[in-house]
Amino acid sequence: MSQTKRLTGFIGAEVIGVDLKQPITDETADTFRRLLSEHQVLRIRNQFLNLEEQKRFTILFGPLMALPYVQALAEDDKVIAVLKEAGEINTGVFGGEWHSDFSFLENPPAGSVLSAVEIPEIGGDTLWASQVAAYQSLPKDLKEFVAGRDAIHVGAPYGVKHAPPANEKANASIQMTRGDPDADREIRHPAVITDPQTGTRSLFLNPIYTTRFEDMSEEESSPILQEIYKHCTRPDFSCRLHWRAGDVVVWDNRLCLHYATNDYDGARRLLYRTTFQRYAPA
Ligand code: SIN
Repeated sequence: MSQTKRLTGFIGAEVIGVDLKQPITDETADTFRRLLSEHQVLRIRNQFLNLEEQKRFTILFGPLMALPYVQALAEDDKVIAVLKEAGEINTGVFGGEWHSDFSFLENPPAGSVLSAVEIPEIGGDTLWASQVAAYQSLPKDLKEFVAGRDAIHVGAPYGVKHAPPANEKANASIQMTRGDPDADREIRHPAVITDPQTGTRSLFLNPIYTTRFEDMSEEESSPILQEIYKHCTRPDFSCRLHWRAGDVVVWDNRLCLHYATNDYDGARRLLYRTTFQRYAPA
């Protein structure tokens, strides 16, 4: 692959000189997988992929996953349109809080790909924060606290804790199922996860879906979670990307959190998102 340029000290790299519309060799695919695990977020500019090309790129990293509780394209259940219309003023935005996608599933996605179609001239950036760097620099007392501890994740907060207030419209362009008892049941994940291939450890807690630590109440867990969130979303561990139409970004959902900014009322923003699971080890 031609060239890789790091975007910040801890997270993100730009891959330059690759055309994802062309056949992708095994060697290039291996390089992409290695780069993703090294940098957690990769951006490739000027691609303008159609959906088939986007899916072909996505499966380099893992099998495509249809996401529950969010409406996919009518013509393809593996693709979501992340859309906010220009007329959707003062609404929420999909992913508008630090999170790891669908961490409340028993088997959360391994990562996602976004392909930018229509982007506001100003705003609509996405941020990612390295949970590897966050874990490595976690203060000693918190590191001891999370060691070997499980946390509880629930889908409900998306519809309850983080639902827009009653006087504020929800984002109308993305239909989410809310109040589904299956999404709302408690799922346990380790607070620190280990990548089975590389042994890399990362924090796996997020303000949308993590409700508490196991064997602790929400009230008891809250001050500790807040302290961890303050640390793990520090700008030091983050990159913030401004999109251009044609950009493709892939990220590892287990190694970083992400956040969609909501600062572009009056402009239309459309990206297509595909999601992948982890390939079973050979
Ligand atoms: C998301 O996948 O959470 C949405 C990200 C974005 O729209 O920037």
